[in-house]
Amino acid sequence: MPSQPESGMQIAGTGIYLPSRIVTNHELEKLVETTDEWILTRTGIKERRISSKTETSTFMGVAAAKQALAQAKLAPSDLDLILVATVTPDSFFPSSACRISAELGATGCPAFDLQAACSGFVYGMIVADQFLRSGAARNILMVGTERLSSVVDWRDRNTCVLFGDGAGAVIVRQTVGSKGIISFDWGADGASADLLHLHNPQSRGLATQPPAPLAPDCIVMAGKEIFKQAVNAMADSAKRTLKKAGVKLDDVKCVISHQANIRIIDALVDKLKFPRERCFANVHRYGNMSAACIPVALHEAGSEMKLQKGDKVLLVAFGGGLTWASALLEW
Ligand code: UT7
Repeated sequence: MPSQPESGMQIAGTGIYLPSRIVTNHELEKLVETTDEWILTRTGIKERRISSKTETSTFMGVAAAKQALAQAKLAPSDLDLILVATVTPDSFFPSSACRISAELGATGCPAFDLQAACSGFVYGMIVADQFLRSGAARNILMVGTERLSSVVDWRDRNTCVLFGDGAGAVIVRQTVGSKGIISFDWGADGASADLLHLHNPQSRGLATQPPAPLAPDCIVMAGKEIFKQAVNAMADSAKRTLKKAGVKLDDVKCVISHQANIRIIDALVDKLKFPRERCFANVHRYGNMSAACIPVALHEAGSEMKLQKGDKVLLVAFGGGLTWASALLEW
C-alpha cells in the first residue's frame, strides 16, 4: 500500500497590531537618567510602542487575529484551536485565549493560554504542529500579545528602556505534503528563574484573607547574565534543531530570533557563523515585546526578507523560566 503523505503545518495568514503611540529614546531621557546614545548602542532600540488604556492585551490580540484570519480567508468558526502566548494577560482567568475567542465570536472552539515568557510563541508553534500532524486540528490561531508597559518599573532605567507593547497572530493550517516544522528543540531551566522574573503580587497573601494593597510587582532582570545565557541557549538550541533535521545553516534562508537586544542577535549569528544580513531584526522599532516578538517578526519578515514558498526559516527564542526553543520551518 502506498504510504500516506505526511500532514504538516503551513502558515495561512499573519497579522499584527502595534499601538500608535511611539515612545522614542529621547522621551525616556525625561523619565530616567539615560541617553538615546546609551540605549541605541547597548540595545539597538530606537523606539517602542506603548499602549493606551483601551489597548489591552486582549484588544491587541483580537486586532492581530482578525488580520490573520482575513489573510487566511477563514472565519472564526473555521478554527479548531486558539492558543495565546502572553505574560501580560488581562486576567489570570478567563484566559486571554477565551477572551480573544469571545471577541472573535469563535464560540465552542477550545482556547487556552500557554506561558513560556519570551519563548512562548515558539513553544506554541511546536504545540500547534503536534495537533496538526495528529489530525486533531486543521486550523489553529496562535496569538502572541503583550502589554509589558504595565509591568515595568518606569523608574528603573535598567529595564524600562527595553520593553514595548504589541501583538502578532498566525493562522497555521494542516497541509498534506507540506513539511511545516521540519524539526524543533525546546527546553527549560527553572533553577535559574530568579535571573528574570515577574511575581504575582496576589500570591503573597493567604488565599483566605483579602490581599494587602501591594504595589504591583515589576519585571526584574539580571541583564548581563541573561544576555550570556540567551546567546548560548539560542545558539545551542538552533544547532540541535538543525542537526535533527540534517540541514546545514547554509541552506537556511533566514533566521528569525527573539528581539531583545541587537547585540544578542549579533552575538548569536557570530556564534552560528550565519550571515548577519539573513537574520531578521526589528528590535530598533519595537523593543522587546516578549511573546509578541516572533509573530510580529514572522509577519514582517515575509516581505522584508523576500521569503518564498519552500524557503527554510529558523525560529529561535529565549526567555524567563528560563526557557528556550527553536524550530526549523518550511515557508
Ligand atoms: O527577553 C529575554 C530577556 N532579556 C534580555 O535578553 C536582555 C538581556 N540583557 C541585555 O540586553 C543587556 O544586559 C542590557 C541592555 C540590559 C544592559 O546592557 P549591558 O551592556 O549588560 O549593561 P550593564 O547592565 O552592564 O550596565 C552598564 C552600565 C551600568 O553602569 P555602571 O555600573 O557601569 O556605572 C548601568 O547602571 O550602564 C548603566 N545603565 C544605563 N545607563 C544609561 C543601565 N541601564 C542604563 C540606561 N541608561 N538605560
